[in-house]
Amino acid sequence: MTETTLETITALAKRRGFVYPTSEIYGGLASSYDYGPLGTELLRNIRNLWWREMLHKRPDMVGLDSQILLHPETWVASGHVASFTDPLVEDKETHKRYRADHLIEQWLAANPGKDDVAVEELTLAEMGEFIERNKVLSPEGNEISKPKAFNILFESAIGAVEGEKSKVYLRGETAQGIFSNFRQIVDSSRVRLPFGVGQIGKSFRNEITTGQFVFRTLEFEQAEIEYFFDPESTEWEPVFKEWQDAMWKFITETLGINEENLRWRRHSDKERSFYSKETYDLDYQFPFGFQELWGIAYRTDYDMQAHLKHSGRKLEYIDSQQGGKRIVPHVIEPALGINRVFLMLLCDAYWEDEENQRTVLRFKPSLAPYKVAVFPLLKNKPELVEKARGIFNNLLDHMTVTWDDRGNIGKRYYYQDEIGTPFCVTVDFDSLEDDAVTVRERDSATQERVKVSDLLAYLQERI
Ligand code: GAP
Repeated sequence: MTETTLETITALAKRRGFVYPTSEIYGGLASSYDYGPLGTELLRNIRNLWWREMLHKRPDMVGLDSQILLHPETWVASGHVASFTDPLVEDKETHKRYRADHLIEQWLAANPGKDDVAVEELTLAEMGEFIERNKVLSPEGNEISKPKAFNILFESAIGAVEGEKSKVYLRGETAQGIFSNFRQIVDSSRVRLPFGVGQIGKSFRNEITTGQFVFRTLEFEQAEIEYFFDPESTEWEPVFKEWQDAMWKFITETLGINEENLRWRRHSDKERSFYSKETYDLDYQFPFGFQELWGIAYRTDYDMQAHLKHSGRKLEYIDSQQGGKRIVPHVIEPALGINRVFLMLLCDAYWEDEENQRTVLRFKPSLAPYKVAVFPLLKNKPELVEKARGIFNNLLDHMTVTWDDRGNIGKRYYYQDEIGTPFCVTVDFDSLEDDAVTVRERDSATQERVKVSDLLAYLQERI
């Protein structure tokens, strides 16, 4: 079996309408992608499953949809204006910029055993020393500058006049909208500590890296939870562990990812974000190695205290059951990237079935963009088309269905396999006699005759 490469996945994603390069007619935009008809469906399935498992199935969770543009003081208070940076170097000839840590990682991969460092732990100065010691060059083969901290918050301006007064930031994480709404959520709903707030939405970072497809983009979607608790009555370790278990279960059970391709990685003291006391990454083995899919951090009361000080508002929880005790809650934060889940699902589902000479996306049926495809055996036989249309229309009320009457049945199967449709239903001449159809299952490529009256139940049971 051939190895799944990022190039294979990227080509399939474009060919079949999962992902397109953004603004392709203008030559594209670096690290930006649009999602095509099938990609859009897959994204929706991921979001819906996450929302159902993490919010709807828990009595202690509520949702939020805050703005991309928040008051700029938010990002001063949170520390992002001062510390949300990437280490950048510049090619001294072309003046192109690169992530210093990524160039060092590439150098280490190309020169095994020649130096030994944990890249994620290096300070700016240590990266500079490494680059000098090993004469690390840019991808064009030129000398590079010393690494500098580059703030990755995206800036914009409100109104007609540009300048400090109108400066705003596109949010760098959805989390801050949750912190700044804490009091309003507590005052307007029936939540009691401990409780969590979940949010799915776009975030923006001025990322310099290119060539990682949808893994790292300028604009991306986060699914974040801030879980608030009273540190005096609740210990953080069990809460942290409980959320780690929920994350693991979501990836392995709900999404069906093989455990062998997953690992937990603990952040060292040096690597951890400025706001965190404990961080783990849940990594997936992408074609380019194990990389972060989902992070979980114990943010303590860092953000709540920061906003409390900056806004002057009492961002507290008043516990009526403890005689009006004022609590600044602590927070555990599981933060997921929806687009990384998307890429993981494509990589994980990709299968070249050599025996049957086909490419298959073996999505779990709950994730597949279309659950079923309906075919009339021949498109120029009105009686077949009419019967197939009836079946198609009936199924539309219950699941995502696609219609195909082009080419021969073999070609239609080939196409549906490549987009991961779990079932194909064919209406043939026998169907007109026995009121049954041929149902073909994607992975086994086996076929079964099913009565039209039993079809919906048959499919629902398997989806
Ligand atoms: N609120 C915490 C936070 O934002 P993070 O580790 O920076 O933590 C959380 O981001 C998740 O968002 C990551 O695990 C990753 O899945 C996703 N993510 C971060 N930057 C991304 C980017 N540039 N493109 C795509 N996904 C990204």
